[in-house]
Amino acid sequence: MSETRIISADEEDMKSAVCEAAAALAKGEIVAVPTETVYGLAADAFNADAVAKVFAAKERPAFDPLIVHIASFKELAEVAVLPEDIAGTVKSLAGAFWPGPLTIILPKSDKVPDLVTSGLPTVAVRQSGNVIFRSIGKALGRPIAAPSANRFGRISPTSASAVMKELEGRIPLVVDGGACREGLESTIITIENRAGEQKPLIRVLRAGPVTKEELQKFGKVVIEKKISERPDAPGQLESHYAPRTPLLMFDKPEDFRPEEGKRYGLLSYRGDPKAGYVDLHEWERVEELSPGSGKLMEAAVRLFHVMRVLDEEGLDAIVAEPVSETGLGVAIMDRLRRASAPR
Ligand code: TXA
Ligand code: MG
Repeated sequence: MSETRIISADEEDMKSAVCEAAAALAKGEIVAVPTETVYGLAADAFNADAVAKVFAAKERPAFDPLIVHIASFKELAEVAVLPEDIAGTVKSLAGAFWPGPLTIILPKSDKVPDLVTSGLPTVAVRQSGNVIFRSIGKALGRPIAAPSANRFGRISPTSASAVMKELEGRIPLVVDGGACREGLESTIITIENRAGEQKPLIRVLRAGPVTKEELQKFGKVVIEKKISERPDAPGQLESHYAPRTPLLMFDKPEDFRPEEGKRYGLLSYRGDPKAGYVDLHEWERVEELSPGSGKLMEAAVRLFHVMRVLDEEGLDAIVAEPVSETGLGVAIMDRLRRASAPR
């Protein structure tokens, strides 16, 4: 592959960008497209050859299944089978959060190639909240398989320029829809109906923009911790979302022991000295996740961008301040822990 083209999907260019992207997908090409969470690398979900190109461009191992994106709730029946005992819960959740950043694991339909699901009997499904993405799906008339548009294990891209840094020269086309509104990948859940219990069990396989608090209206919610050991969640590796520069996290600030002559950067939540990090060291560079008043929401939107900025500084290590583990903070801490996990 040689040249990667970026096309704008601004208001006046949106129609033509949607047409061009859908035509490329229909021909079996792969295209990077914006979603509300992060940019995805899209392929026609029913075309196994196209899906194989996605794995190749990302250098993603075949054991890590893709999410299938539907353009409308009606399309769900094409990719998944709705078990009777959880159908009501799926419909309620879809009503509350779709289109949006919630991915539901369901038994797959025969139409979905095994490559998409890495041979699992289940498929991960969501309806993206991004209008450009959904319009491409509608124009294509088929569901879209799309993982995040980064090299495997790296930081997910939240802008077209970040996609270029990850995949330039490896894919033919990027649709530029601006910065992603959420900034973190979708929440992934499974749903189980428990005999004798009134409420279903909702297991969170990946924390994301839809929080535990929000899901609790629909069932008993458990956030899975050691998921990398679960055979039904093969892609949730301990080390992920990682910058090339080592990222360090500590139980308490005093545990940081800088080495002589090394250059360290700080990824701070709000730049507040009271957190114990800002004045701990002569940082080469300090970046705040939430410089404004947006707090966790702002931090989520900016997390991957700021990680990328610090990664480009050529530092010896990045120290990350923890954020409080409530609401969106759960998903932010999940990404930080995985980024700091030994590789
Ligand atoms: O927000 C998002 O979810 C973005 C946008 C592009 O939609 N996509 C995304 O895809 O983050 P990806 O491939 O980077 O992460 C999908 C995760 C993987 O860790 C994979 O293991 C898991 O979903 N997954 C996919 N199918 C699964 C299945 N059948 N059972 C369990 N986990 C599954
Ligand atoms: Mg990913």
